[in-house]
Amino acid sequence: MKKIIALMLTWMALVGLAHAAGGGAAWDKAPNRLNDNAALQNGAKLFANYCLNCHSAGYMRYNRLTDIGLTPKQIQANLNFITPKVGDLMKVTANPADSAQWFGAAPPDLSVIARSRAGAGGSGADYLYTFLRGFYRDPARPTGWNNHAFVNTAMPNVLWQMQASMNQADFDNSMGDLVAYLQWMGEPSQTTRKQVGVWVLLFLAGFVLIAWRLNAAYWRHIK
Ligand code: HEC
Repeated sequence: MKKIIALMLTWMALVGLAHAAGGGAAWDKAPNRLNDNAALQNGAKLFANYCLNCHSAGYMRYNRLTDIGLTPKQIQANLNFITPKVGDLMKVTANPADSAQWFGAAPPDLSVIARSRAGAGGSGADYLYTFLRGFYRDPARPTGWNNHAFVNTAMPNVLWQMQASMNQADFDNSMGDLVAYLQWMGEPSQTTRKQVGVWVLLFLAGFVLIAWRLNAAYWRHIK
């Protein structure tokens, strides 16, 4: 009996170890800035300046950015370089087929990227935060860049000039804003949805109370 228990314990320890090893390195934890409009606005600016020339965000309309506190005028003047109307979708400037040929892989649409990349290392936001800060020089790659979070990625480090002009803390901070924006874009209603959820629960709680008192009042004179 003791032998069997010892065997089982060893087995469980081994499975645990294998699991820990198979998960790979954990991703760095992205800061949570979903309720921080200044951070989201900065993220939107970085996104429009550095990402939209290769990636699209085909489910996102420019005028939805009013939800993070921007006016249509600000959007048109600072963020929308491509289309003349603020009601337009965030389209890409490069032709996707050309990009696929230039880079060897098509840049994916980034509308819901933060939701699609959750994994063993953490949330989708953690992955993006690690990926964007994970580029390093690699002469063996066609772009001259490789990445710790996505080995042999076809994406070059498009932020290297910005990165070189800042210290690490400032760059991390900017990437935190950019990731928050990508996360918000994946589900622009998530903040409202959570707030509405709280009100719905409060309403239900209040309603249960009323129903209970009403029930008591109704049956009081019926014996
Ligand atoms: C010069 C073109 C180019 C620009 C600019 C660019 N990317 Fe990319 N990106 C790519 C390509 C190409 C891929 C596909 C990589 C692959 O599949 O190997 C990619 C892939 C990605 C992925 C998916 C990674 C994965 O796990 O599949 C993310 C996320 C991403 N880019 C984010 C960004 C962000 C954020 C910006 C702006 C800071 C940006 N990219 C700017 C070309 C670009």
